[in-house]
Amino acid sequence: MTLTMRFLLLLAVCFFWTVSTSHVPYDSIFSFGDSLADTGNFLLSGALAFPVIGNLPYGETFFGHATGRCSDGRLVIDFIAEAYGLQFVPPYLALTEGQKVQHGVNFAVAGATALDSKFFYDKNIGNFLWTNDSLSIQLGWFKKLKSTLCTTKQDCDNYFKGSLFLMGEIGGNDYNYPFFLGSTITELKAVVPLVVETIAAATSMLIEEGAVELVVPGNFPIGCSAVYLTLFQTPNKAAYDQNGCLKAYNAFSKYHNAQLKLALEKLRKKYPHTRIIYADYYGAAKQLVHLPKHHGFYGGLKACCGGGGPYNFNNSARCGHTGSKPCMDPSTYANWDGVHLTEAAYRYIATGLTKGPFTSPPLKSSSMFDGL
Ligand SMILES: *[C@@H]1O[C@H](CO)[C@@H](O)[C@H](O)[C@H]1NC(C)=O
Ligand SMILES: *[C@@H]1O[C@H](CO)[C@@H](O)[C@H](O)[C@H]1NC(C)=O
Repeated sequence: MTLTMRFLLLLAVCFFWTVSTSHVPYDSIFSFGDSLADTGNFLLSGALAFPVIGNLPYGETFFGHATGRCSDGRLVIDFIAEAYGLQFVPPYLALTEGQKVQHGVNFAVAGATALDSKFFYDKNIGNFLWTNDSLSIQLGWFKKLKSTLCTTKQDCDNYFKGSLFLMGEIGGNDYNYPFFLGSTITELKAVVPLVVETIAAATSMLIEEGAVELVVPGNFPIGCSAVYLTLFQTPNKAAYDQNGCLKAYNAFSKYHNAQLKLALEKLRKKYPHTRIIYADYYGAAKQLVHLPKHHGFYGGLKACCGGGGPYNFNNSARCGHTGSKPCMDPSTYANWDGVHLTEAAYRYIATGLTKGPFTSPPLKSSSMFDGL
């Protein structure tokens, strides 16, 4: 055998060895949450509160048409699916009767709250909800679907052992609605334990159903979002941090996140066979507002698509409505429409989740050369 032949043979052996030992760490994704994760359910649900997400410029960057995603393109869940070589996770409400579920399902609905809508109706703000499809409704959909995927406990445990469960982001809207309607930070701090308890209970429920690998994201630094910056702007300079964000609202997000992390720590003790991964959305998004230009986000705290004002967020001319327009290059903005982020920002965050450092413990590596 010539040296060249030997070399080629060696290459071939290495190649096959690599292929046969490479494993996709997750074979399906099941997702729950709100507009940060919704890939079409809200639009399909027929809810009319916010139909503009069904039109361009929503979707303009990646899909070329609106998909029901609250962004110009892909969301964190899409980038996670891509990172693991999976197809985009289909929205639950798009499934047709008898359709085979192969790589998971997305139950997230834009506008959804962690708490049931009754909580908001009891506080007389129920009419402002975009949707009633709160976390418990989404879990109900999951249970219904699960009965078609597997039957015995062993069967289900086996089915879900390769699944990645994304529990959120959820909970942000439980605060958004009341904040926008005038509730104070002090009032809403009292709601945090309820919201956190609901997210923790949902996480437990999924574990009881067979989930072993779960990601639970915290809340964003809401004090840096164009909608909060616009609605709660103040001449008091001391209210802002060095990045121009509203300190008190960011502190509120941190308060929620700290309680969530404590709750997850308890769950890890209760279910030592699982991996409960906290996703630090706060830390990841904070990078984008701290030295945004360093990451190519020249828009700073301004929304890409909006109807004017210091943060390009105008409640009377929100993105998609008359009087608003999208920026020339959404990839240079972190904020898309005042409330949601751009595909570029979601890509940055997703990379920080799949490759670190914004997940703890880390997600499984998607590299096919693992173990070599
Ligand atoms: C939510 O439920 C209430 C009461 O059942 C109903 O009146 C309301 O229209 C629903 N809201 C949405 C957005 O579907
Ligand atoms: C907000 O939009 C309304 C309606 O288009 C417009 O009249 C108003 O001037 C806008 N405000 C700012 C600050 O651009």
